[in-house]
Amino acid sequence: MIFISLFVLFKIIKITMPKTKIDPWDFHDIEDYRNLFSEFGIGSFEKFRSKLSMNRYIRRGIIFGHRDFDRIMDAIENKKPFVMMTGLMPSGRFHFGHKMVADQIVFYQKMGADIFVCSADIEAYCVRGISLEIAREIAINEYLVNYVALGLNLNKTNFWFQSNYVVPYYRFRDMLSKRVTLNELKGIYGDISPGKIISVLTQSADILHPQLEEFGGPKPTIVPVGADQDPHIRLTRDLAIRFQSEFRLMQPSATYHKFMRGLQGGKMSSSDPKSYIALSDKPKGAIKKIMNAKTGGRATVDEQRDMGGVPERCTVYDLLFYHLIDNDKELMNIYEECKSGELICGECKAKCVDIMIKFLDKHQKRMEKAKTLVNEYLSKNGYN
Ligand code: TRP
Ligand code: SF4
Repeated sequence: MIFISLFVLFKIIKITMPKTKIDPWDFHDIEDYRNLFSEFGIGSFEKFRSKLSMNRYIRRGIIFGHRDFDRIMDAIENKKPFVMMTGLMPSGRFHFGHKMVADQIVFYQKMGADIFVCSADIEAYCVRGISLEIAREIAINEYLVNYVALGLNLNKTNFWFQSNYVVPYYRFRDMLSKRVTLNELKGIYGDISPGKIISVLTQSADILHPQLEEFGGPKPTIVPVGADQDPHIRLTRDLAIRFQSEFRLMQPSATYHKFMRGLQGGKMSSSDPKSYIALSDKPKGAIKKIMNAKTGGRATVDEQRDMGGVPERCTVYDLLFYHLIDNDKELMNIYEECKSGELICGECKAKCVDIMIKFLDKHQKRMEKAKTLVNEYLSKNGYN
């Protein structure tokens, strides 16, 4: 009897427990992105794909989900004002994983969005133990310089440090604390600390403050994120509703993109240099990382000729797919030649190296010019 009820209880727990755990501070690969649709109410991005197919991440399904993107689509199509907001985590070198968000910022700027970008230095300080000086250095020399080199127009961007901004933002962040309970935060984040609470409320203020009267009032806001940031998005959308009578805020929209795997097959992480290629890596270092990268190839050349490779499991293919080959036909050729065994990993890596070296060379020249622009921008805006 006891066994049976335990069994039933276990079943119930299993059914009611979400299969996918999302924790923004301890994020592991989400194995099945489709779970996010049913478990968390993220919508499929499919219906916008053809309209925005000029964007590689959208065209290739890398951006796979959304909340309330319809109002952003409407703003783009009808040239209405809208905001794109994101925060950078100043915790390491700027690599190809970060490039995904940077490219999206540039994309929305071209689509007419008013761009709001902050350096999440308070979060870096409170949750990751990074000093404000180092965070500042990283935000400027790694992130801003790369953003500009990738095409961001800084002079049309609202950039700020979470630790150094304007009064209405801080007032609003503090007011947000009124309509959230400790139990609620525990429910969303599990293990919560004062530093995390401050970081979470600051992030909600980041996303919502462009809609305050001081910043021009309510408007659609798009926040492109990796699925790890969804807890923040859900809380921020709830807060927008709870402050309806005081601020008439629109719920922010979000898109969700897949993560690139690290070059060794695990997580791509700033704290593990073997897992990523930085956009400021020297060619020699980049070549070595590609040569050592985990592929979807077979144990021997003969086997590969016989059975073909598995590009879906290949981190070299990831680089080509996410970043290095924009032409769909060219990419498709590699995919098919890999599958059929016509292409072997040695050749394929050599090709990847070739494109990578050209990209880095061009990009690093742009970074040199960008450094001057970033410095001009910072002194013009009283940051140094
Ligand atoms: N928490 C984000 C991260 O870990 C950084 C961040 C701060 C952010 N404010 C934001 C992201 C606003 C999106 C929108 O990377
Ligand atoms: Fe990856 Fe290329 Fe090897 Fe295929 S041939 S598994 S795409 S490296």
